[in-house]
Amino acid sequence: MKVGIIGCGAIANIITTSIVSEENDIDIAYFFDKDIERAENIATLAGGVAVLDFEDMLNDVDLILECASPDSVKYFAPIVLKRGIDMIIMSIGAFMDTDFYSDVLKIAKDNNAKIHLPSGAVVGLDGIKAVAKFGLKEVSLVTRKSPKSLGKDIDSEEVLFEGKASEAVKEFPLNINVAATISMACNTDIDVKIIVDPNVDRNVHEITAKGDFGEFKTITMNYPCAANPKTSMLAALSAIRLLKSFNETISVGM
Ligand SMILES: NC(=O)c1ccc[n+]([C@@H]2O[C@H](COP(=O)([O-])OP(=O)(O)OC[C@H]3O[C@@H](n4cnc5c(N)ncnc54)[C@H](O)[C@@H]3O)[C@@H](O)[C@H]2O)c1
Repeated sequence: MKVGIIGCGAIANIITTSIVSEENDIDIAYFFDKDIERAENIATLAGGVAVLDFEDMLNDVDLILECASPDSVKYFAPIVLKRGIDMIIMSIGAFMDTDFYSDVLKIAKDNNAKIHLPSGAVVGLDGIKAVAKFGLKEVSLVTRKSPKSLGKDIDSEEVLFEGKASEAVKEFPLNINVAATISMACNTDIDVKIIVDPNVDRNVHEITAKGDFGEFKTITMNYPCAANPKTSMLAALSAIRLLKSFNETISVGM
């Protein structure tokens, strides 16, 4: 499988380093970034090609992996999907724009392209998907962030946001990926609380789901990526797993 990457920052570097370090059938061949130097650095690491125009890679890839920004998804995804090329999208917050979501879904269907959204920085999506249409009554996400990660200096916890995921995206567009992923997994505008907490030094996500099936709670306490403290390591690791799963005969825990 030949892959092109859009956005050569923290996530792209972790994924590429891991994929090139072992034998597999994944060839990360092309790299595009608005900062060409970033694309060139990672292309050198992978023995791939850094492109100045992202369309230059579209004739020669099976899949595009987006790890750039929500705005970039809005620009690039329609072009890629119209060419019938599958995508993995990391900047899932882009899909909280419901008009964009419907447009992009139609483009993908019309052109027989698939959109893959990794579970990202959170665990528990398998359960949420399983119960989504079977009496799921309540889903909530509480995210705790350290004051340092938000550039704040406080002594006691402070609620930054409480409301629906669709509202959170307007105030925290770069921190909404987890809420967006959960909302999409159960097709519900979930309840979100974002707390800045001096007692945590990691990004902590607590999901609670209740319904006819019973109840579950998951807590993910993420270490950040060294290259970008706003991004959790787990997000990159989930994309690596997804990439590898395309060529596996048996699928576990999906
Ligand atoms: N799904 C999840 O759970 C999850 C978790 C963490 C991060 N993310 C998202 O993944 C994305 C990448 O995260 P990261 O930590 O690697 O970010 P990063 O800032 O380290 O790297 C992003 C790279 O994309 C490039 N870029 C940004 N906009 C671009 C554009 N329009 N065209 C070309 N290049 C562009 C930047 O120059 C940068 O090199 C972000 O949108 C982030 O919000 C998702």
